[in-house]
Formats: sequence, structure tokens, C-alpha cells
Amino acid sequence: MEKTFLMVKPDGVQRELIGEIVSRFEKKGFQLIGAKLMQISNELAEEHYGEHKERPFFGELVDFITSGPVFAMVWQGENVIATARQMMGATNPKDAAPGTIRGDFGVTVGKNVIHGSDSPESAKREIGLFFKKEELIEYSKLI
Ligand code: CMP
Repeated sequence: MEKTFLMVKPDGVQRELIGEIVSRFEKKGFQLIGAKLMQISNELAEEHYGEHKERPFFGELVDFITSGPVFAMVWQGENVIATARQMMGATNPKDAAPGTIRGDFGVTVGKNVIHGSDSPESAKREIGLFFKKEELIEYSKLI
């Protein structure tokens, strides 16, 4: 079953949106198989956002993601990577459709509430960066 890495960013945690965001993915029918509230180190932030190293906003990005706790999650389900991206909406909240997480709650492109893996390769990489194998719980849904 496909897995993706999703993370409520420091702005989403401080604005008490964890429950709202978890609820959206639960109601959609995806399965939560790992989650933790954590403070990201500079080292982990630089590794996670490595592909943006040359961008002018890289420093800002690392400063923001390390500025307070994040809620890191692994979700499982059919087509969960692309569907979660649709549910998150466009990266820049000003372009994100109403009804999407960023469309409903995002403020700026930096403070855009949530991060989600954009491909199977990045999902695998990001899950491995944030979670140990034993922190992911595979279980069958009873209903
Ligand atoms: P995310 O999905 O976490 O992946 C990379 C992040 O870079 C993106 O969300 C945005 O929050 C951030 N980002 C993209 N463009 C800019 C920008 N121009 N200034 C600041 N942050 C940006």
C-alpha cells in the first residue's frame, strides 16, 4: 500500500490545526501509521529541504521549520501521495482552492501550514528521514 510523509508545520501547530488536519485525512479514508510531535534540528531541516539548497529562500525555510514543534506523520492508502497533495492545495496559499488545507488556512508561501511528499521517491526518502522502521505501525482496519 502506498505511503506518504505529511507534516503540520510550526504555524499549523501553533494555530492548533493538528486535529483539523488529521481529521481531514481520517475522514477521507486514509490510515495513520505513524505520528510524532517533534522539534526539527537544523541538520534534519537542511537534509529534508536539500533540493532547495540553492534557492534564495533556503535560509528562511530552514529557520521557519525549526522555529517550533512540527507534527510529523506517515499516512497509508491507495494513491495517498497524489490525493494528499490535492487535499493540501497549491504551495502558495493565494493560489490554493477553497476547501483545500492551504486554501482554507494558509497565509503565505512560507507559512503554508503543511508539507507533503510530492512523489514516491520523496515519500520514501522523507519517511526514512523522520521515522525509524519500528515507529511505523502496520495494522488492519476493523471497520
Ligand atoms: P513545502 O511543501 O514544505 O516545500 C518547500 C517549501 O518552500 C514550500 O512548502 C514553501 O513553504 C517554501 N517556499 C516556496 N517558495 C518560497 C518562497 N518564495 N519564500 C519562502 N518559502 C518558500
